[in-house]
Amino acid sequence: MADPAPQGYAARQRLIHWAMAVLILPMVVAGFVMIQQGLPRGLQNGLFIFHKNVGVLLLLLAVLRIALRLTAPRPGPAQGLAPWQRQAARASHGLLYALILIMPLSGYIRVRAGGFPIEALDRLGLPSVVPRSDALATAAKAVHEFGAYALAAVLCLHIAAALYHALVLRDGVWSRIWPPVPKG
Ligand code: HEM
Ligand code: HEM
Repeated sequence: MADPAPQGYAARQRLIHWAMAVLILPMVVAGFVMIQQGLPRGLQNGLFIFHKNVGVLLLLLAVLRIALRLTAPRPGPAQGLAPWQRQAARASHGLLYALILIMPLSGYIRVRAGGFPIEALDRLGLPSVVPRSDALATAAKAVHEFGAYALAAVLCLHIAAALYHALVLRDGVWSRIWPPVPKG
């Protein structure tokens, strides 16, 4: 017989969820701030360098996380949810998985096809894996921008739902994934 689904997320699933959360939230803020007109030059450069390099790190984490999602067992749907809530959770988690891959990929393509540096990769001597192309850069920029708004919207819903479970329903959904390192 197959093993029953675990009650909560395993330590490495929690760790990678929270490590990515603490990186992605400032990435979204930095992304929207750095494209504003009239920012001091030093601040804008610093934000771009942070955004591009942490973004590439997030691409690696996303690949690792999706591999973990496809191979490791995880808890089934939370108990006591209405069918629409289960569907909303499934759909929003699916979108988040798609976006954690689409965002760094489109960012990488936008920057490399545009002929711009990614400082950490350049320092390591890693060349671009996409050709220099203005058309490709423009397409990737559009995907990145659309994805940015989609990610911001789904994340607002995700965080609001998590807080509702944690503070109002107190139904155990929050403790499936918090703390990042489970006790005992
Ligand atoms: C303050 C920020 C965040 C909070 C409070 C939060 C909270 C939670 C909670 C409580 C769960 C468990 C849901 C369940 O057991 O059904 C969860 C799962 C999940 N979170 Fe977050 N989260 C946050 C940030 C993020 C970010 C930035 C992402 C990615 C962009 C993300 C992606 C996911 C995904 C994909 C799952 C489902 C995991 C799976 O079942 O495979 N979360 N989150
Ligand atoms: C999870 C990873 C990422 C997130 C959440 C993210 C988020 C964002 C957001 C919210 C914006 C502002 C909206 C807009 O696109 O105009 C933005 C812009 C931008 N991002 Fe990202 N990004 C990520 C990864 C990357 C990576 C890996 C790169 C490049 C290596 C990158 C390069 C850029 C650039 C160049 C812009 C300015 C848009 C432009 O004028 O082309 N991003 N990003």
